[in-house]
Amino acid sequence: MSLSEKDILSMQPKMTVAHAAEFLGVSAQAVHKQIKLKNIICPKLGNKLYLSFMQAKQLFNISFKHKVIVGQIVKGGTGKTTTIESVASCANTYGARILKIDADPQGNLTDACGIDPEEHPVLIDVINGDASIKDAVVNLSEGVDLIPSRIENVILDNVIVNERLPLHELYNDLLEPIARNYDFIFIDCPPTMGQAVTAASLYADIILAPLNPDKFSAKGLKILKREIDTLNKRFKRDVAYRVFLNKFSGKTILSDKAIVSLISDPELEGRILETTVQFSQEIPNITDSNRNLFSSLKTSPTRDDFDRLTRELLGISPSHARKIPEELLKKEENEAITAI
Ligand SMILES: Nc1ncnc2c1ncn2[C@@H]1O[C@H](COP(=O)(O)OP(=O)(O)OP(=O)(O)O)[C@@H](O)[C@H]1O
Ligand SMILES: [Mg+2]
Repeated sequence: MSLSEKDILSMQPKMTVAHAAEFLGVSAQAVHKQIKLKNIICPKLGNKLYLSFMQAKQLFNISFKHKVIVGQIVKGGTGKTTTIESVASCANTYGARILKIDADPQGNLTDACGIDPEEHPVLIDVINGDASIKDAVVNLSEGVDLIPSRIENVILDNVIVNERLPLHELYNDLLEPIARNYDFIFIDCPPTMGQAVTAASLYADIILAPLNPDKFSAKGLKILKREIDTLNKRFKRDVAYRVFLNKFSGKTILSDKAIVSLISDPELEGRILETTVQFSQEIPNITDSNRNLFSSLKTSPTRDDFDRLTRELLGISPSHARKIPEELLKKEENEAITAI
């Protein structure tokens, strides 16, 4: 079953005009004026104009620096899949072309995107030469592609070992024909440290590890740190990693000594993102309905958290939006142009 036009439209990450104005630090009127001046055709939900990939591209015209972000930590359930899905969708609302790769045989990311993986080739099929990488790419909406996963990917580790595939070149070789089609490539890993995860880590510009405020997460981070140090030494790489607190709740974070001592570790200096994502029932609810936080125009504190996290992680800022000269915006605001 392929996605219907209605599915594609409803899955498409979206941004309100008010949000675009907040991002640019100008009034909504000024954004409406720009939309008109640039002849940007914005879709509507009800009677409300909104922006998605194409309109954001035209309005912000951000030139993104190509990056590969790999969601990884050995502790299960900390929010890797949720984070990859949310950050990727959010980046798309700013006009970034994104590829999400589900590298977890559990296929949770695939499921969250509403894709039946039985109908598509997955990584193991490409590695085995049964499909091309281009065949494995599923277009979900404008500027959003997915390489799905299913349980057969569980043999990836064995295939890598048996066929002596070069860990440090595996993803590079696999994705070479398509990598430049994207501003950001996101890889969602399983909570393990096998060969396939190592291969993804070696392809990463940034490894992103969500931590929960509990001591098991702290242990997971210690293992991850050790593993990245070993990889960097063995392969002479400089893979960076960033951690952030997910499922944050004021009460638990202050009470958990393990996590507090870990995040004050000098070795983590510069690696902890300022943004924390709070615990919210909205996340499990939204995942169950095959939607993501950015596929509707609904504002919420959780959406704001992931928006801040995305901007911080990927360095998306209005200074990269090359389109609207400030003087022009100020002039337009002074002219008190009424909204369209
Ligand atoms: N900030 C949050 N608030 C509340 N629930 C959350 C939050 N982040 C993630 N969850 C929930 O926690 C569960 C685990 O999240 P997710 O699947 O993203 O973790 P994971 O690290 O990818 O798990 P795995 O290690 O199994 O791959 C899911 O039910 C998800 O909805
Ligand atoms: Mg997961």
